Amino acid sequence: MTSLDLTTDTASTIDADALIVGLSGTGEVAAHPQLPNETAALLGAAAKALDASSKVGKVTVVPGQGTSAKRVVLVGLGQATTGELREAAGCAARSCGKEPSTVVIAIPADDDEQYAAIGEGALLGAYRFTDYKSEDDKGDDAPEDDGTSWLLAGASASAVERAKVIAGAVAGTRDLINTPPLDLFPASFAEIAEGYARSLGVDAQTWDVQKLAEDGFGGILAVGMGSSRLPRLVRLEWKPEGAKQTVALVGKGITFDSGGLSLKPPKSMETMKSDMSGAAAVLHIVLAAARANLQIGVTGWLCLAENMPSGTASRPSDVIRIYGGKSVEVLNTDAEGRLVLADGLVRAIEEQPDVVLDIATLTGAQGIALGSRTSGVMGSPDIRDEVIAAADHVDESMWPMPLPEYLLETLDSKVADLKNIGDGQAGMLSAAVFLKEFVGDAKWAHLDIARPAFNEGGAYGFTVPGGTGASVRTVLRFLENRANA
Ligand code: BES
Ligand code: MN
Ligand code: ZN
Repeated sequence: MTSLDLTTDTASTIDADALIVGLSGTGEVAAHPQLPNETAALLGAAAKALDASSKVGKVTVVPGQGTSAKRVVLVGLGQATTGELREAAGCAARSCGKEPSTVVIAIPADDDEQYAAIGEGALLGAYRFTDYKSEDDKGDDAPEDDGTSWLLAGASASAVERAKVIAGAVAGTRDLINTPPLDLFPASFAEIAEGYARSLGVDAQTWDVQKLAEDGFGGILAVGMGSSRLPRLVRLEWKPEGAKQTVALVGKGITFDSGGLSLKPPKSMETMKSDMSGAAAVLHIVLAAARANLQIGVTGWLCLAENMPSGTASRPSDVIRIYGGKSVEVLNTDAEGRLVLADGLVRAIEEQPDVVLDIATLTGAQGIALGSRTSGVMGSPDIRDEVIAAADHVDESMWPMPLPEYLLETLDSKVADLKNIGDGQAGMLSAAVFLKEFVGDAKWAHLDIARPAFNEGGAYGFTVPGGTGASVRTVLRFLENRANA
């Protein structure tokens, strides 16, 4: 297991595979109380000779002269804001050699929050998903995720604990996203969720198809019935004694989205194992709330289904009933996320939480509007802006988007209360306007993380290829802000 601990030793005297130090301003080594002046001077001279950049995340690796480390990773800190420190640590962590067993981080920070950000960045930059790689083929551009001991010089125990909880939640989310749909399907996802929950004192309850049918969850059933691996709904609850409010989180958990009978073209299907990213985020946010003992009630709803075409799949023109009774004409079976979320939202809101957030890889239109790194946030203006503020605080890129009322008319159905696709314009907003019909006057925000959830390109900062864990850090911050308000 990877570990993160604090160290109070002189950083340069620790036997390590790598020592990470920061470069600030005009390229000098950032002074750290656990880095002796002579060492800093020696490394500073090396940095000068190599013209090492202090731009955030730029890495220069030099031999560990004057230290007990094999190598020194010099990393640019930019202006050394919290976000830049997190990013720099992530870049440095990706440059520590193939299989380091010990890495010391001697990047100076102002406070606990910044030290936690450095720890987070390092753990996330070092993240790798190798479960399906044969032993001798794990690549050579990043450290092994397993077995590295990360030592954070200058940090407090609480900063280290914070980094571990946050990075652990993001990494757990990434693991689920990266797991192939052959192995991760609604029942296996539900079992994994129940197992984790039980170990942390989080209450868990699962609806199987029979229960889903009894209770009238027409959205989850319609989407899931084309697959031989049947759908599930999972309810998780973290309820500390004396919590003054409850936040409900609803996650889209399509373990594979083929589009159903409205089949996707092959290229568009390649990343669709990531269509459960919202549910994975919700699960790991609830678990992290428990780990951190956050003093706020959190319920998590995982809407799990596999969207497949078959003789039992739902057909374009079918009419289904969402939990609570509203009817929906399904004209495109690839607009399935909103159907499972509608069930989840109505059921979650029945319990009258103070706020409900849903997290979903909902629309390709999100990527067209905002690209691959910026999630769209829609909903009640105050809650939407509260989510954006939390995102800004933890340096996740999210942007407020509107819910134009006229789009509701484009969802009018000739036979049912609503249809599940609009007229093609503003796809991200149209999906959100659809969801809004199931929210009533609850305080609500919808996070469309479609493209940001999965990195199809190369590594950058602390983000590696594959599942990213988008939204996890933001929503944890959102909960923390409310718990401490
Ligand atoms: N899961 C997709 C959205 C998606 C697309 C996520 C690309 C990540 C990357 C969703 O279920 C979907 O297929 N949406 C359709 C809706 C349309 C049929 C109204 C879309 O965006 O094309
Ligand atoms: Mn779809
Ligand atoms: Zn989908």
